[in-house]
Formats: sequence, structure tokens, C-alpha cells
Amino acid sequence: MEKYVLITGASSGIGKTTAIKLAINGFKVFAGVRKPEDKTAVEAENSNITGVFIDVTNSDSIKNAYEEIKKVTDSLYALINNAGIAYAGAVECLPVETIQKQFDINVFGAIRVAQEFMPMLCSAKIVNISSMASFGLFPFISPYCASKRALDIFFNALMLECKNPELKVISIKPGVIKTKIWEKSIDENKKVMEGLPETAIEKYRREFEYLVKNAEKNKEKGLSPEEVADLILKVLRSKNPKPSYTIGRDAKMAEFFSRLPLCVTNFFTKYIMNKRMN
Ligand SMILES: NC(=O)c1ccc[n+]([C@@H]2O[C@H](COP(=O)([O-])OP(=O)(O)OC[C@H]3O[C@@H](n4cnc5c(N)ncnc54)[C@H](OP(=O)(O)O)[C@@H]3O)[C@@H](O)[C@H]2O)c1
Repeated sequence: MEKYVLITGASSGIGKTTAIKLAINGFKVFAGVRKPEDKTAVEAENSNITGVFIDVTNSDSIKNAYEEIKKVTDSLYALINNAGIAYAGAVECLPVETIQKQFDINVFGAIRVAQEFMPMLCSAKIVNISSMASFGLFPFISPYCASKRALDIFFNALMLECKNPELKVISIKPGVIKTKIWEKSIDENKKVMEGLPETAIEKYRREFEYLVKNAEKNKEKGLSPEEVADLILKVLRSKNPKPSYTIGRDAKMAEFFSRLPLCVTNFFTKYIMNKRMN
């Protein structure tokens, strides 16, 4: 029997690498993209890949994708909620619209897709690409951290509430991965900063500069998306996957620190932040 997988955000990075990895390993992959050129590019990678247009913030595009996929199959082996973006900034002066945008893509987007595709997910695995940010230790990227924690909470609830015991939800929490997300977050956050009053920019200038420097560094360091794709393949092949996986030394450290009392975690977080900025 064919195993059909839908993955959102498959135009680049973890999503595209995973689409290719799964296709090579015999899965039939519906790769969610937003641009015609990305559909052509991802389909050219392997004949097991079919590009489908999905903007996770647009319910009509998700409905259309459902109808497209229904022409081929009425059952998905897995849904991989991967589409995501990262916003940063100091809570004190972050426009609420920015936080809403962050949640619209990373949280509500995944919920929209899961709700629409639920009839096809009877005994499926829902794999969410969360993040070590879900452990919530990272100041100045709180919209992103909160979105990943919310994603994990909503989908864990979905699994517990679901009448179908065969539906499994798995959260993958990578550390820093070398993808375009870092470049994009620099661009997005520059736009947000341009809209802030001069007083706010002055107050947090050092931190903003640090964030950009850090994102520049992360573009080059970190694991390759291939390693996350390998883990996703392992999870899809596993009969009894764990509900949560961390990948990367930084993610494992974040997990460890998140288990300490909050006052201890906060002390170390502030200490490390100050040390890095100086
Ligand atoms: N890179 C890391 O260090 C890291 C670490 C932990 C977790 N993650 C998570 O991994 C996931 C993939 O990110 P990545 O690092 O591979 O970055 P990426 O290369 O920038 O990929 C992000 C993908 O999400 C898509 N996307 C963005 N907004 C969308 C929307 N409204 N609707 C549908 N698709 C949308 C992008 O499509 P377009 O090309 O059309 O914009 C792109 O395909 C994200 O959820 C991210 O939070 C990344």
C-alpha cells in the first residue's frame, strides 16, 4: 500500500530536505509550497513528490489542497506541520500584530491544516516541527518560543482528546539548523524595527544588534536539515514513536535547563545573555 505524506513549507530547508528524503525512501509526498516555481523545483527532485499550494494562513488554500489530495487518496500516513517563521524583539515594544502574525503561521496554521485534513488522518502520525524554543528559555525571541510551546500544547491536547487511539502526535524539537529561516528572520525583524519609535530602538539597540549577529552566525553553524529529515524518517518508520524528540546538543541543553527551577534557569539565561553581548 502507498504511504502518503503531506508536509507544509516544503519550498526550502527542513521541509524540502524531508520531502526529498521521504520520496527517496518510497513515500508518496505532497509537498506544500506557495509559489509555482517552488512547485516545479520540488517536483523535479523526485517523481514521488507532488507539489500542492498551501498557505497555512489561508483557509481556502488549505481546502483546495484537501480537494486536490482527495482525488489521489482518502488517507494520509502522516501530516508534517513544518511551515514556520521566526519573529524576535523585546516584549515591551513588540507590536501585537507581529505576535499575532507569528501565531497565525506557526500555531493557527498548523491547527487549520490538521482540522481540515482530520478525515484523512484516522490512523496517521502528525509530526510537528516544533523547536528547542518550545522550552522557553530564550529572551528576545519570545513570540517564536511562545508559538512553539503553544503548538506543542494544542497538539498534545488534540492527541489526548481524540477518539482514535491510533492517531499519534510527535513533536520534533531541533536546535539550530542551517536554513534560510535565519536570513528571513533578520529581514522580517528589520521591518518590525523600522516601525518602532526611536526611543524603543535606542533602549534595546545593543540587544537588537546582538540578535542580528546571532542570526548571522546561526545561518552558518548548526546541524544540516538532512539530520532532521533522518529523524523524521525514523519517526515515520517507528511503530511506537515517542511523543517528543530533541535533536542537537543545544536542544538537549535547553531541555535540561528547562527542568531546573525557574529562578535558576532565569539566572543562567541572563548571565549567558550578558556574557555573549559583551
Ligand atoms: N532552522 C532552525 O534553526 C530551526 C530550528 C528549530 C525549528 N525550526 C522549524 O523548522 C521549520 C522549517 O523551518 P526551516 O528552518 O526549514 O526554514 P525555511 O527554510 O525558511 O522554511 C520555512 C518554510 O515555511 C514556509 N512558510 C512560511 N510561511 C508560510 C505560510 N504562511 N504558509 C505556508 N508555508 C509557509 C516557507 O515557504 P516560503 O518559501 O513560501 O516562504 C518555507 O517553505 C519551521 O517551523 C521552524 O520554526 C527551524
